[in-house]
Amino acid sequence: MTANSTVLQDLPADLMRERLPRHVAVIMDGNGRWAKRRGMPRIMGHRRGVDVLKDLLRCCRDWGIEALTAYAFSTENWGRPVEEVEFLMTLFERVLRQELREMMQENVRIQFVGNLNALPKSLQEEIERSMAATQNNSGIRFTVATNYGGRQEIVQACRAIARKVEQGLLQPEQIDEALFERHLYTCGTCDPDLLIRTSGEMRISNFLLWQMAYAEIYVTDTLWPDFDRKEFHQALCDYQQRERRFGKL
Ligand code: IPE
Ligand code: IPE
Ligand code: MG
Repeated sequence: MTANSTVLQDLPADLMRERLPRHVAVIMDGNGRWAKRRGMPRIMGHRRGVDVLKDLLRCCRDWGIEALTAYAFSTENWGRPVEEVEFLMTLFERVLRQELREMMQENVRIQFVGNLNALPKSLQEEIERSMAATQNNSGIRFTVATNYGGRQEIVQACRAIARKVEQGLLQPEQIDEALFERHLYTCGTCDPDLLIRTSGEMRISNFLLWQMAYAEIYVTDTLWPDFDRKEFHQALCDYQQRERRFGKL
């Protein structure tokens, strides 16, 4: 945790509570570059990135944001060197095991989205355990996108719907946006109002393609391991200046 993150416990006075995003999504990018700039191996950036995510989750809770979704591993990230992928899988598992008690204390409801069946068995078990343990918690909804790809999510929804049509449970005419949404991993969570991407890249990288239709996008050059409450405050200030028109006038 950085020095800045220990301050700003309460909602900063210049933010309007009624104009806060209900759901914030983050593309936590730049871990590798952060480490490289310090002459450290990339994995040190991932390790530091976990602390930053923990504090952002706490900050969202402190400031009254209902839902946080974090992009932890994309379907494309399997293309990285095997040592990095293995490190990440082990890191996810260890952090989940370590943090479950605290998440219970803080009333967090955790869920995972993505093609979870392809993850290591031991990680899948930890994921199931944490989701089951926290499912009745009433606090912030924390979603971790792991082995997640927006296209993959849409394709698996199409398959599930096609199967129902094939079985005669559904008529093609009954397929509409609301029904489609119910077949996405994110069913039950409102769409993100604000997407934050760190480390300057102006792209979505296959994250929440359907759900992001009207999200406000905020990109900062700050690398993820340096993203603190002050930075988050800045993103929220920017968000509150936006006029969300949803295609209307
Ligand atoms: C984001 O940081 C974390 C994951 C994708 C798991 P990167 O690892 O992409 O860091 P950069 O973009 O190479 O700096
Ligand atoms: C997006 O970051 C995925 C995650 C943060 C998990 P990447 O670093 O994989 O994205 P690209 O390759 O720069 O688009
Ligand atoms: Mg990256």
